[in-house]
Amino acid sequence: MLKPSLLLSLAACWTHVLAVTVYGQEGVTQPSGVLATATATATANLDWLSNYAAYNNKTLTPPALPDPMPSTAFTIQVMNNAANVNGLSVQQSGDFFGFSIEMSVVQQVIGKNASFIAVPFLNLLATVADRAGRVRIRVGGNTQETATLVDSLPSNEMIAKDKENASNPTDTPILDFTAEMIYLMSNVSALVNAKWYLGIPFNDTSNLRLQIAEVADAVLGDNILAYQLGNEPDLYVSHGHRSSDYNQTSYYNEFGVVIDALNNDAKITKHGNLVAPSTQGTWTLQSVWDTGFLTTYQDAISVLSVEQYPDNNCAAAFPDAGFGDPVDPQSVFANYLTHASGQNIVNQYLSSTPLAAQYGKQFMMFETNTASCGGFPGVSDSFGSALWAVDYGLQMAYSNFTGALLHIGGQDVSYNPFTPPPTNLSSTEQWTVGPIMYSTLVLAEALGTSNTSRVLDTFANSANAYTPAYAIYENDVLARMVLTNFMTEQNGQGAYTATISVGGGDTGEANGTPSSVKVKYLLAPSVAEKDNVTWSGQTYGGRFQCDGRLSGTESIQTIQCDTTANTCQIPVPAPGVALVFISSDAQGVTEPSTTQTYSTTAVTKVKNTVTIDPSVLATSNGDSAKDRAEGSTSQGSSSDALRTAGVAPGLTLLAMFVAGVWVVVTAMRR
Ligand SMILES: *[C@@H]1O[C@H](CO)[C@@H](O)[C@H](O)[C@H]1NC(C)=O
Ligand SMILES: *[C@@H]1O[C@H](CO)[C@@H](O)[C@H](O)[C@H]1NC(C)=O
Ligand SMILES: *[C@@H]1O[C@H](CO)[C@@H](O)[C@H](O)[C@H]1NC(C)=O
Ligand SMILES: *[C@@H]1O[C@H](CO)[C@@H](O)[C@H](O)[C@H]1NC(C)=O
Ligand SMILES: *[C@@H]1O[C@H](CO)[C@@H](O)[C@H](O)[C@H]1NC(C)=O
Repeated sequence: MLKPSLLLSLAACWTHVLAVTVYGQEGVTQPSGVLATATATATANLDWLSNYAAYNNKTLTPPALPDPMPSTAFTIQVMNNAANVNGLSVQQSGDFFGFSIEMSVVQQVIGKNASFIAVPFLNLLATVADRAGRVRIRVGGNTQETATLVDSLPSNEMIAKDKENASNPTDTPILDFTAEMIYLMSNVSALVNAKWYLGIPFNDTSNLRLQIAEVADAVLGDNILAYQLGNEPDLYVSHGHRSSDYNQTSYYNEFGVVIDALNNDAKITKHGNLVAPSTQGTWTLQSVWDTGFLTTYQDAISVLSVEQYPDNNCAAAFPDAGFGDPVDPQSVFANYLTHASGQNIVNQYLSSTPLAAQYGKQFMMFETNTASCGGFPGVSDSFGSALWAVDYGLQMAYSNFTGALLHIGGQDVSYNPFTPPPTNLSSTEQWTVGPIMYSTLVLAEALGTSNTSRVLDTFANSANAYTPAYAIYENDVLARMVLTNFMTEQNGQGAYTATISVGGGDTGEANGTPSSVKVKYLLAPSVAEKDNVTWSGQTYGGRFQCDGRLSGTESIQTIQCDTTANTCQIPVPAPGVALVFISSDAQGVTEPSTTQTYSTTAVTKVKNTVTIDPSVLATSNGDSAKDRAEGSTSQGSSSDALRTAGVAPGLTLLAMFVAGVWVVVTAMRR
């Protein structure tokens, strides 16, 4: 097992500094300003870990090439001017893909408490926020429904589970948590431009527990975006949370009860920011709208939401729960390697996305991933899942969803974008990043930071399902294209070349093909690959190898176009995704050297302290990357320093970041 021994530390000092403690590789508390030297051990036998779905060893066989084969040389004619295009989506933002973190795993994934934050988590968020401008995270899931905010817990715990009273087929534990969890989120937002969604418990609307919103309004301020009210209410009956006569009208009535209570709660300062109905398909959205839900409650809601996974692995996860025979992951692998998957998921919502626009609401896929009940080992953690998510995400964007949150469960699921090592190895092993994580980078860069990107499914190659292509218009001009190849090369077959032609010919537009384009590739040797994935030449690393940063040298291809023929030929390997930067604006803004850096001086184990220039922090409040100062970062990882953003004025903040371990943050208001 490769052990990156790189140690990065970063201290951000504003005005003055309070105590700092860093928990090093050996779990040793170091005096302020001194970091433990990372030790490159790595002799441990990690085989037993493959019993956890999150680190499983299953590698599938890539599906055979399609028969008939799609054309591997085709032309995509696109217009340059958005005014000449029908069917563009609503305006999208680079933070389209965010994360949904099951509340029960907050301590594993985010941090043990508000002063003990997982550094890899911050680094991972920073890779997205740097590209997207910000990153959206929901803390919730089934666990939110029964969670209760309490004043304190034994042993000063932040979250306590009551597994005895677990419910649902998915063994959802009942949780108690303290306000510390909300301070933890706030402290994350002080370091990375992260915005949050929380859930208000909806399990018992005659004994409401609104404290989560009271505290979050006060502590998170603008960093709380909205509150989900009710998680998959259409499963309440089958999960035993409501009596069998519970229906859409019952839900409608209960929802009204909570809105009244929220309006009458003086500690709740923000209103009109609920997320609903978060159904998962047992009830159609139309059946919820038919109750008058949208018209009655429109002022209380900011996000219309659904939750959907294209498949489930419940039979394997819960053998005795009556789900039937377990599904062989190999038998479903091909289902994910096609444009049809995203289309099929999105289709059922096409009649409702216009309502969101009509009522001025967002429309979000609030929880999604490859398969519920833990995913399919070998599928959910394969490069195929990354291709699937890129195409599915862009299909949602094209269909006027305004965001989607990729779910993160615990170590029992195989679909996590990222997973910390098991607790007893957290001082020796690093994190495991799933290939699906890379899709968040691709979407962020494809949509950019202008908030004006509109997405078009070009139905390229006669709408072939293995070679989908999207065009993205920004400020009304063609800016980027995303070309996906779901095939894995076999006997030299599978790669394709798309010939892009902008305007010209008989389109009614002047020739608009640039003299050259820049291209970034998402690549892996096959769709079944689990570890060796690169985005534009950089990687998070293989299992147990990630400290949250990308490593490797970023490589961007420049492809010369034929200005006489008005064409650019873009090769797309099998498998792979090509992000093509077409407009000169797009090519400039996404130059990685201007998107990836912060003014930091970083160190390896040779030198263990580092400071950020406070003036840089002062201007780095989540601003777009181009406003940021540049600087060198850690040796051997030129463009991937941990970025911090959004430190509020008036905070004294000192943070020390150590690759792969925890950070202690002490913050104080002046
Ligand atoms: C935060 O968690 C760390 C690690 O468990 C612990 O050492 C520390 O005492 C906790 N701090 C607070 C304020 O609870
Ligand atoms: C960070 O957490 C601490 C509690 O440990 C809290 O006092 C402080 O206000 C938090 N900082 C922010 C920016 O929320
Ligand atoms: C998305 O919204 C735009 C603007 O209203 C509309 O023109 C387009 O047809 C919508 N797309 C879909 C798939 O509904
Ligand atoms: C960690 O815990 C697992 C499961 O209890 C156990 O099998 C393994 O040996 C432990 N490893 C170490 C290094 O303690
Ligand atoms: C894009 O939208 C986000 C969220 O509303 C906002 O914070 C950001 O400033 C916007 N960016 C631009 C360039 O308008």
